[in-house]
Amino acid sequence: MKGRILSGMRPTGRLHIGHLSVLENWVKLQEEYETFFMVADWHALTTAFDETEEIKNKIWDMLLDWLSVGIDPEKSVVFVQSHVKEHAELHLLFSMITPLSWLERCPTYKDQVQQFGERGKDISTYGFLGYPLLQAADILIYRADTVPVGEDQLPHLELCREVARRFNYLYNAKVFPEPQAKLAKLPLLPGIDGRKMSKSYNNDISITADFDEISSRVRQMITDPQRIHKNDPGNPEVCTVYLYHKIYNPDELEEIEANCRGGKIGCVACKKKLAVKMDEALGPIRERRKELEKKPQLIEDIIADGAEKARKEASKTMEKVREVMRI
Ligand code: TRP
Ligand code: SF4
Repeated sequence: MKGRILSGMRPTGRLHIGHLSVLENWVKLQEEYETFFMVADWHALTTAFDETEEIKNKIWDMLLDWLSVGIDPEKSVVFVQSHVKEHAELHLLFSMITPLSWLERCPTYKDQVQQFGERGKDISTYGFLGYPLLQAADILIYRADTVPVGEDQLPHLELCREVARRFNYLYNAKVFPEPQAKLAKLPLLPGIDGRKMSKSYNNDISITADFDEISSRVRQMITDPQRIHKNDPGNPEVCTVYLYHKIYNPDELEEIEANCRGGKIGCVACKKKLAVKMDEALGPIRERRKELEKKPQLIEDIIADGAEKARKEASKTMEKVREVMRI
């Protein structure tokens, strides 16, 4: 039998190319697993409870990006968390059996509360403390055994397994599997300034950027700072443009490295080459998105259908849960 995957992302709106490798990995997993991909809008509320006016648009934008990259609603269940209320019921029932200390010791918790606090926002709420427990409910309600996530999510997966174990033990039933994280070796693409790519640093490139936008972002990339004249020998190892060539232009990589070190290519020309390659890679995604944007009804149908399929699976689990808990 095929393994079952659940993964999710908080709706942050349009995605950037840093998300692309994660999504392309999801696209591959669709072939090997039964896959559930969820827009975690309730999770977004744990920190953005006071800025909900844009959330619908953000969900929509993220879903369109998923579909443009190749998430296929014929192969995967694609849905929005808040459309499947059963997640909230399971979260509540889990909250009865989860010691506070398990949540408080989650390494991201105190960190995040402090970081947000420094920016003047108090997220020491009940909901934010429960973030990983809601995530456990997301996963376990589908009895998923595999969860593709980044390393930062490992403590959440650990908690998920602890909750599954405790539930099975308390109610003397094997309702839940103990899901394992699936870490993929994904290339890490920095932002155009060399820092971690993030919308909030304004150093990102949108998945659906057009050629002009790509070119202008590439022009802003940090190159070898020691290089002033175009025939100065350069050091590609310290250059963000070179890192991007590694991913978007592997065939010419050796040539670029040699020419850079030999002072035979200027940074302007090197950046132009990159912009062309990136445009080639992103073009088909951009075109698919344009097509999808013309079909809002199709998107509505995909969302409704995903919710129905997800709810069907979630309800089965909840029946079992209520039965073993005798409620
Ligand atoms: N916490 C995840 C993140 O920030 C998003 C998420 C919510 C998730 N529920 C999930 C990921 C369930 C995997 C499984 O990336
Ligand atoms: Fe970077 Fe290319 Fe300039 Fe070398 S030539 S420093 S790789 S942009």
